[in-house]
Amino acid sequence: MSFHPEFCRNESEVESKFIVQYLLPQLGYTPDTWHQEVSFGKIRLDFLAFAVQTMPFVLDASSPLSVVMEAKHPKQNLNKHIHRLRQYLTSLNVEYGLLTNGKEVRIYKTYNNDIKLVFQCLGKEIDAKIDEIKKLIGRDKLKDNPSIKEAGVLNSQYPTQSVSPEISKTKGKHIMKIIAVYHNKGGVGKTTTVVNLAAAISKRGKKVLVIDLDSQANTTFATGLVKFDDEEFDDIREYNILNVLKSEEFYSISEVARKSNFCNPEIDVIPSHIDLMNGEIELNALEYTRFILIEKLEEVQEEYDVVLLDTPPSLNLYARIALIAADYLIIPSDLKPFANQGLTNVKDFVKAVNAFRKQMRKEPLEILGIVPCKISTNAKFINATFKNRIRKVYERYGIDIFNTVIYERDDLAKCAEKTLEVGNMEVADPISVLDFKPNSLSAQEFELLAKEVLKKIGMAQ
Ligand SMILES: Nc1ncnc2c1ncn2[C@@H]1O[C@H](COP(=O)(O)OP(=O)(O)O)[C@@H](O)[C@H]1O
Ligand SMILES: [Mg+2]
Repeated sequence: MSFHPEFCRNESEVESKFIVQYLLPQLGYTPDTWHQEVSFGKIRLDFLAFAVQTMPFVLDASSPLSVVMEAKHPKQNLNKHIHRLRQYLTSLNVEYGLLTNGKEVRIYKTYNNDIKLVFQCLGKEIDAKIDEIKKLIGRDKLKDNPSIKEAGVLNSQYPTQSVSPEISKTKGKHIMKIIAVYHNKGGVGKTTTVVNLAAAISKRGKKVLVIDLDSQANTTFATGLVKFDDEEFDDIREYNILNVLKSEEFYSISEVARKSNFCNPEIDVIPSHIDLMNGEIELNALEYTRFILIEKLEEVQEEYDVVLLDTPPSLNLYARIALIAADYLIIPSDLKPFANQGLTNVKDFVKAVNAFRKQMRKEPLEILGIVPCKISTNAKFINATFKNRIRKVYERYGIDIFNTVIYERDDLAKCAEKTLEVGNMEVADPISVLDFKPNSLSAQEFELLAKEVLKKIGMAQ
């Protein structure tokens, strides 16, 4: 049989023609021994094949899961997907991972919490190389693997974490929601809302990506991605949102995203950089600038449930890019008169963005509402002035107001300013208020906000 996977035109052809019709049968995997679209919690695998059929799967240190296969679009550079594969293989304890875009085939093996490339060939060489691949990940070879036989015994002796994967046959059912957090006034609590809301949503079991589109990089700092003030350590200069927006071909989201453990479970963050300030004119001249974020987010739509976009306090290009890419808008506001006047600008801005979205056949941006932020806890103020302001804002601007109120609280400012002593250096070590003081009023407010947001976007559990 002769096969040319390099002629697959898209990701789904790589899956169906190459993996399902060619590779799995050639390697001896009968349809009952592999599954497509398997999810373990937040991890979603394209294919999972195993030598010994065991249901439910039992994941432990000597897991009998054999091979994960990930298919990518033929235009995708496989290098960009190595770190995800590493994460999948090491966290699920799978021995082998095959990564292919049709043009190239790679096999990685798990060693001590890391993965190593053990085989590589071009798609067009597949016929000639198939025996070599069989020796590595063929079903017969893995069935004879002593560690797999042993696993059956070990499973009954050791306490293990039993995971029943949901095997969904319907691809594309997963919907990633993109929420922009925007107000054209600074200091109203946008960044504070983004990072703590991200933490609260992550704690509700959702996979969260935060994108910092503000050249002030406050979110990048707040999520602990900048540990030192020193420019020498500035590795964000290259891997940041500016290059994501500038490059059509390179700097994919998965390549640029970093893990932030400012909250637990961790979230991913695309950092910003002060260079963003100088990049605006250059970006403005590029035809694809307004579409590129949408396109790059589409590539990771299976990886995340919620994407939060933090924006600059202005009506500039970055704010526009955020509002074009987003499905929803949250407007944090301290509801002070000056911020309220700004709401007219926000409404006009949304109107202009919607005109653009209409031209690109995209639904209008849905405004989820105003989140009252940094609200004084003074009882007199709340009962008189605050209630009055809420009513007036609704009457005047016709924008919904969230039920959840984020009050002005010391804990919120403190957790963002936390530092760590390393030798004689002070290193920034911010954490979310939910991890800083889980029982604090502030943490509870963000839990409520997460619940309200998820409900509004149809993601409530
Ligand atoms: N609810 C709050 N309670 C106390 N301090 C807050 C609160 N929200 C924001 N802050 C503080 O106010 C300042 C501005 O908030 P920030 O979230 O950065 O606003 P923006 O992103 O809109 O400019 C920060 O120093 C932040 O720590
Ligand atoms: Mg900010």
